[in-house]
Amino acid sequence: MTELTIALTKGRILEETLPLLAAADLYPLEDIEKSRKLTFESNQPGVRFVVLRGVDVTTYVEFGAADIGVSGKDMLLEHGGNGIYEPLDLGIARCQLMTAGIKGRETPKGRIKVATKFVNVAKKYYAEKAQQVDIIKLYGAMELAPIIGLADEIVDIVDTGNTLRANGLEPREHIADISSRLIVNKASMKMKHAAISSIIEKVASAVALRDK
Ligand code: PRP
Repeated sequence: MTELTIALTKGRILEETLPLLAAADLYPLEDIEKSRKLTFESNQPGVRFVVLRGVDVTTYVEFGAADIGVSGKDMLLEHGGNGIYEPLDLGIARCQLMTAGIKGRETPKGRIKVATKFVNVAKKYYAEKAQQVDIIKLYGAMELAPIIGLADEIVDIVDTGNTLRANGLEPREHIADISSRLIVNKASMKMKHAAISSIIEKVASAVALRDK
């Protein structure tokens, strides 16, 4: 029996992941969303789930502590994808990674301050535009930074745009389209090829059926 650990991203992504996995005949034996536990047995022998913050899923999969993961593309872009395959776009938790600033206010000339939790993405994005920036790392509530005067712009996830609007901000430039991806540790893909391929195929079929 092949032992497999699957790392799931908690929160909004989890809600959309569980029905897809269930359609691929893979589900936890307990209600993850009602539990404080971090590991869960599945209906398939040898397969277990761990439930993590999105930023940690890529790390667990990179180091092989989890063989498979479900991760937002934003987290993959920020992580860099070292040691990780990304075989399947699950088409869930779709949103956009964007820059944003105070509505109607022009970005100042010269060096600007950018607040974000996506430090690597932001560095790369502004470097490609040849825009000089000081990046300020935040862990949440990025929208507050331009209002309070901590930063000129933010780089953040935009879904409905409600959070920006509610805080008097406007989206500016599009950096990337985001959705959640099935990811696999590269060494696990070799060592546990049959078991992992079977899961990828079943989930891919569930995605295809949903999109039909
Ligand atoms: C994200 C993001 C924005 C919000 C955008 O936060 O950081 O704050 O969603 O969504 P909207 O365009 O529909 O308003 P999330 O709720 O994922 O929590 P986080 O701060 O933990 O990332």
